[in-house]
Amino acid sequence: MTGRDLQHQRAEASAEPAELALVRAAAPADVPALAEVHVASWRSTYQGLLPSTYLEASTIPRRCSFWQQMLVRPDRISLVAEDRQAVVGLALAGPTITPELGFEGELFALYLLPGHQRRGFGRALLEASRAALYAQGCRRMMLWVLAGNSARHFYRRMGGRLIAERTEDFAGQPLAELAFGWDG
Ligand SMILES: CC(C)(COP(=O)(O)OP(=O)(O)OC[C@H]1O[C@@H](n2cnc3c(N)ncnc32)[C@H](O)[C@@H]1OP(=O)(O)O)[C@@H](O)C(=O)NCCC(=O)NCCS
Repeated sequence: MTGRDLQHQRAEASAEPAELALVRAAAPADVPALAEVHVASWRSTYQGLLPSTYLEASTIPRRCSFWQQMLVRPDRISLVAEDRQAVVGLALAGPTITPELGFEGELFALYLLPGHQRRGFGRALLEASRAALYAQGCRRMMLWVLAGNSARHFYRRMGGRLIAERTEDFAGQPLAELAFGWDG
């Protein structure tokens, strides 16, 4: 999917039908906003779920560096959601790094600012990520989510089915993760 296509992809926000969520390809000028959204959403989402060392390691300079790298990778799809021209959400997708599950595409990150959740932006970003992956030839998408993250309900609501479970080490703390997949 090209940036121009994405700029024209709009999805109605569920809670406020009059409002439209604009999803578009991220650009280099978005890097500071991507970092802000990533850090703020991470901290609110993972407080009490991930060890504090993980939360402290997610800083604005580190996230700026991360997004600068992502935006120049041709195998990464970086999207932003805007509300009144301010970036309020992000998504990162690409060819999967867990191909053994049989899904070609993976959604690596999906984060909204705390004040912009449950208004349809997540649905718009997820659907745009799937469409962009599909356009790149990745016909099936999967993702990993911490089992303790309520976002698992969102993924089920979006039609994802549970395809795998694993336990990962987070700074010495073993935590359960779930994989959800979408067929085509
Ligand atoms: C998870 C997240 C991306 C979902 O996006 P969102 O914009 O809040 O969700 P939407 O408004 O698009 O919701 C779409 C549907 O899912 C439902 N839903 C969303 N989050 C839900 C939740 N936590 N629990 C239950 N249902 C949920 C909505 O009610 C809506 O249902 P409907 O179809 O009946 O209207 C967003 O809440 C978020 O950024 N959370 C914090 C970060 C995070 O956990 N990211 C995932 C990391 S793996």
